[in-house]
Amino acid sequence: MPENSKNKNNKSVYILGIESSCDDTAAAVLKDGKIISNKVANQAVHEQYGGVVPELASRAHQQNIVPVVDAALKTAGIKKSDLSAIAFTEGPGLLGSLLVGTSFAKSMSLALNIPLIGVHHMKAHILAHFIDDNEMRLPEFPFLALTISGGHTQIVQVNNHFDFKILGETLDDAVGEAFDKSAKIMGLPYPGGPLIDKYAQEGNPKAFKFTKPKVSGLNFSFSGLKTAILYFLQKQTKENPGFIQENLADLSASIQYTIVQILMDKLKLAVAQTGINRIAIAGGVSANSGIRKALLQAQNDLGWEVFIPKFEYTTDNAAMIAIVGYLKYLDGKFSGYDVVPKARMPLDY
Ligand code: KG4
Ligand code: ZN
Repeated sequence: MPENSKNKNNKSVYILGIESSCDDTAAAVLKDGKIISNKVANQAVHEQYGGVVPELASRAHQQNIVPVVDAALKTAGIKKSDLSAIAFTEGPGLLGSLLVGTSFAKSMSLALNIPLIGVHHMKAHILAHFIDDNEMRLPEFPFLALTISGGHTQIVQVNNHFDFKILGETLDDAVGEAFDKSAKIMGLPYPGGPLIDKYAQEGNPKAFKFTKPKVSGLNFSFSGLKTAILYFLQKQTKENPGFIQENLADLSASIQYTIVQILMDKLKLAVAQTGINRIAIAGGVSANSGIRKALLQAQNDLGWEVFIPKFEYTTDNAAMIAIVGYLKYLDGKFSGYDVVPKARMPLDY
């Protein structure tokens, strides 16, 4: 944590973080970088559609944002007037969803006359490792971040809090989509990633073999895997309509095993190419027990230093937005009121 962790008057710095990039409305408060509240309202409305419906997500954010921010301030035990700055997700994400958080943050910042700080959602996933939470170790720079979520799959070299370099990324589907789409093919509800993880616990990872994509360098591809699973299951269910139900655990374990192998192969290559063996995972898929196990194995066998965030900081949350807000606050990196949310936002933005 930077040395001047308080503001000029030696008063504590309270940052409110707001996250609304997809289907979770979240608010959190940090005091001098330390987590003092972290609230999230999930949107169950999308389950019946098998994926996030942008229009419904924006409406649900409108309903949730005031109560969620209110709850975060109450739990933190502070008043609005105690806040030093408001940090919000500027992008990337669903534009309608981002607009709700952006407009809310602007209004609150104007009303309280405190700085407004736009935050990059994917950098926030990575910098979640710097939330002061007693139980987490801080990675030293430089480190490699494996960012795995429903929208992204990247290996990023992180040189300092503000210097990120993408070494490789997916050319098509994100790894979270690979989990969710495979789950959908098996008839599981959205989001299927956590369900595959759950059923995989009881299954044999070597029961079914799916070929890994051949992509050179540090880039990834997951769309072929989804198609391979689809064709395999179509063939099997033609012969035995109960095939999926009877083999759900083995199928889940085999799919998870294949995905984890793809990620680990690329990570090993990234470590070999950069000579950096500090690995931090980020994003919703880092909650997956298979990738956590494989990384801990590599820590033991290959001498890597592995950083795995607490579960609540892996999926979309506002504590990660607040920590970036705090780091930018200390650096005087504020946004103007003409800031607009961005559906797409490169990592070097
Ligand atoms: O980072 P995140 O909350 O949202 C964004 O995409 O920004 O990631 C959500 C993704 C979904 O695809 C979900 O299925 C996946 O993370 N996920 C998991 C697990 N928990 C969440 N995938 C596999 N295993 C899990 N335990
Ligand atoms: Zn995310």
